[in-house]
Amino acid sequence: MNPRVVAVAGATGVVGRQMLKTLEDRNYPIKSIKVLASERSKGKTLTFKGEELPVEVLAENSFKGVEVALFSAGGGTSKKFAPFAAKDGCVVVDNSSAWRMDPEVPLVVPEVNPHDIPKHKGIIANPNCSTIQMVVVLKPLHDAATITRVVVSTYQAVSGAGSAAINELREASLRALNGEDPGHTVFPHPIAFNCIPQIPQKDAFTDNAYTSEEMKMVHETKKIMGDPSIRITATTVRVPVFNSHSESVNVETVKKLTADEARVLLAKAPGVVVVDDPANQLYPLAIDAAGKWDTYVGRIRDDISHPRALDMWIVSDNLLKGAALNAVQIAELL
Ligand code: A2P
Repeated sequence: MNPRVVAVAGATGVVGRQMLKTLEDRNYPIKSIKVLASERSKGKTLTFKGEELPVEVLAENSFKGVEVALFSAGGGTSKKFAPFAAKDGCVVVDNSSAWRMDPEVPLVVPEVNPHDIPKHKGIIANPNCSTIQMVVVLKPLHDAATITRVVVSTYQAVSGAGSAAINELREASLRALNGEDPGHTVFPHPIAFNCIPQIPQKDAFTDNAYTSEEMKMVHETKKIMGDPSIRITATTVRVPVFNSHSESVNVETVKKLTADEARVLLAKAPGVVVVDDPANQLYPLAIDAAGKWDTYVGRIRDDISHPRALDMWIVSDNLLKGAALNAVQIAELL
């Protein structure tokens, strides 16, 4: 691949910083790189490959001469600025939810639907973090046995809600341990020593009583898998974990797939690692997945309540495979 002119929009954020690190760690071929954020970051610098880069303010003309732009600066910012980048001939890989369900915009997980990438018209959407780690595991099972229904409950880390949320978990935990009121500002309830069945923290609930995060998992899974017939129900929960999302997933199939068969299929699946040795108390854990590129699956078992269903536990780093790494993998395939 020829070295590219790259921009990262939202580079000062939690995901933006991981995007820079992932470009560096994967040795993405770069001719030059610019880092963009809001007015608030004027005068700041970010380090890339040992070099200090000045943060530039994101503007309509930021993308002249840029070939690939990774965006993680919020939905409103992507909606406003990604079209300017595309008009200037740049390909945007956007981590927000702004473009994901646009029929003109491919929604891509490289292990699942790389064939959708060439359909882009300047913008490619990076899916929701919880959806990405689930579909890399569902894909080989769907190919082998045709999935009809998925029931998922998530246990999502606070890092998915940005740097203020990470600070809130740390500070609220200290207060709670000191016997004080843990308090809350970012989350709608105290996050320390608690589970909150509401994601995102604001304007979460939709008309059907699901949250928007839950409906993202429903709609995005169908689009990425290219199969609108898969029925999905989700409950998404914020838990006091800094990094990595965990998911309990029940999968019903047309063809009977045993837990042993699923383990064999998943062991061969790209980007998936089976950790499933309950006799030795080995199963995927959020603290083990943090900082890793793979998606881990374990506790795979035949559902005793259904003749053709499996239960499993899926864990991945929400900032890496759930965000920055998936975006960089898309950029690698362009
Ligand atoms: P800034 O740091 O200047 O506010 P996080 O969700 O981790 O807090 O990160 C959000 C990222 O999106 C940050 O890099 C933030 O920049 C950037 N961002 C938010 N709003 C805008 C905007 N209107 N224009 C450009 N960048 C923005």
